[in-house]
Amino acid sequence: MNLGVLVSGRGSNLQAIIDAIESGKLQDRISIVISNREKAYAIERCKKHSIPYVVIKRKDFPSREEFERAMVDILKERGVELVVLAGFMSILTKTFLSAFPMKVINIHPSLIPAFQGLNAQKQALEYGAKITGCTVHFVTEELDNGPVIVQACVPVLDTDTEESLSERILSYEHRILPQAIKWISQGRVKVEGRIVKVEGAKY
Ligand code: GRF
Repeated sequence: MNLGVLVSGRGSNLQAIIDAIESGKLQDRISIVISNREKAYAIERCKKHSIPYVVIKRKDFPSREEFERAMVDILKERGVELVVLAGFMSILTKTFLSAFPMKVINIHPSLIPAFQGLNAQKQALEYGAKITGCTVHFVTEELDNGPVIVQACVPVLDTDTEESLSERILSYEHRILPQAIKWISQGRVKVEGRIVKVEGAKY
């Protein structure tokens, strides 16, 4: 499958996809990476691995709609079949999502529906949760709450700081994001309303 990956920052999830492709675990290719921040470290990863990238910033467009249109145009031009949000810090509206219906996935650092929105790891700590985790889900207009494809549980330790918990969750993000891409690419993922079924999934 042709993947389009949208990033805003460090890009460790992008790296997990690159590694899975380079090691042959994924049969897919990254056709384009779009960053909405020019200083994103994710861009360095693209350069290192010769992956095409483009910077598209919201402030360069008069409206959100035109910003999203510009991203859609590039993704379509590159033949992208699945859009992966890997730490993309901008909300996508109908303009974008209607161009890729049920073809946009996101990784979120909590077990949704718990701890949606920003700073999910801090929210879990402050709530006193003993278990949290990460989720790959389809993106719908409801923020961080589309149909769940795969989740991983991560324990919260008494000694955790936001950093240590984030790091532990991240190591699971790097496993489940390539896993979800693989299932979708293999045509094994069926969506029935809110329910996602994966043919022959082994956990
Ligand atoms: C991850 O924690 C992801 O769950 C969240 O943003 C962070 C991105 O990290 N959506 P990275 O840029 O992939 O390293």
